[in-house]
Amino acid sequence: MDSSSSSFELRKFMAPEFVFGIHAAALAGRYAQNYGARKILLVTDETLRKTTPWVNNLQQGLTDSHLPFVTFDQVSPNPRSAQIMRGAALYAEENCNAIVALGGGSVLDCAKGIGIVASNGGHILEFEGVDQIPCPIPPLICIPTTSGSASEVSQFAIILDENRKTKISIVSKAVVPDIGLLDPELTTTMDPHLTACTGLDALTHAVEAYVSNASSPFTDLHALEAVRLIWASLANTLAEPDNLYFRTQMLKGSLYAGLAFSNAILGATHALSHSLGGRLDLPHGECNAILLGPVIEYNFKACPERFITLGEIMGLPLDSMPEDAAAKLLSKTIETFRCTLGIDHSLRSLNVTASDIALLAANAAADPCLATNPRAMKLQDIEEIYEKAL
Ligand SMILES: [Fe+2]
Repeated sequence: MDSSSSSFELRKFMAPEFVFGIHAAALAGRYAQNYGARKILLVTDETLRKTTPWVNNLQQGLTDSHLPFVTFDQVSPNPRSAQIMRGAALYAEENCNAIVALGGGSVLDCAKGIGIVASNGGHILEFEGVDQIPCPIPPLICIPTTSGSASEVSQFAIILDENRKTKISIVSKAVVPDIGLLDPELTTTMDPHLTACTGLDALTHAVEAYVSNASSPFTDLHALEAVRLIWASLANTLAEPDNLYFRTQMLKGSLYAGLAFSNAILGATHALSHSLGGRLDLPHGECNAILLGPVIEYNFKACPERFITLGEIMGLPLDSMPEDAAAKLLSKTIETFRCTLGIDHSLRSLNVTASDIALLAANAAADPCLATNPRAMKLQDIEEIYEKAL
């Protein structure tokens, strides 16, 4: 029997139903019928609709199930609050009573936002923060086309407040979808850059959940397996983009990372990345990829044994090294990894300048993800990490 104190602490673990495997997406109509759907708002994005068969296949499946639907595809990366309000207006005009979302994290988060406004009224920005949603959202079926955000199983929706130029986090059990349909075939149409960015986002979820001060034995289990899967499969996926085995391993890794971070929350990489992505409208995965190394170096001393375990998965003998050297080596290994995947630039090349840092740091300091970072951060610490990543 485990006699450590953690055995006696109360721990909650929230996970929705999901179906994983080839042809999982084809089950959307059947699940929508089970949830009593009369008319569906199908949320997706224009690029996906024009460049892949997935939207058309889903529409055909809904038609075959005799389910009327209306398609809303005006969703951009870093989904704007105005897009959510337009989607919610369409949902109301068309008398919809269920939502099916097909896309990457931005599409799934936009669908969650539409669901919040559909049930609660008001403006989406009024629901910022933790547990701020009084009424449950309509039935929501999420079908991811990337292996990254894991929004299909998470309690998170991240939305851009375009006036404040910052991303807001909505964290609530109310935004956990009714079901996630995870079909690895749908991730084969990601281009190399999107594959790398989303894969590194998933890796960041797993690492941050594992070292989070809200981690538990239940989140650790998923976080460590996610790191193993992603570390072993991401470079292979880029080398063989049509290899369904590697795509499946990556989608599984993203799912496990999602189950971990949805419950353990995240850390400083995401806090700094949300601020950066909101201010300068940059891709989320790319921001995380650039910030993860410097944040690991900063955090290492807060829980060295946890970082040593992560290092073991990456083949690094960190336990035989002085702490500072181990922190540097792990950070450097992450940097090298992202460079080999084609994310080989710094923040400066994304048009971030030294004069942006004060405001970026102020916004990051207010992000809820910072609360679970394993090491406390002052404003100056945040500024130094941005400077390191410049
Ligand atoms: Fe993320």
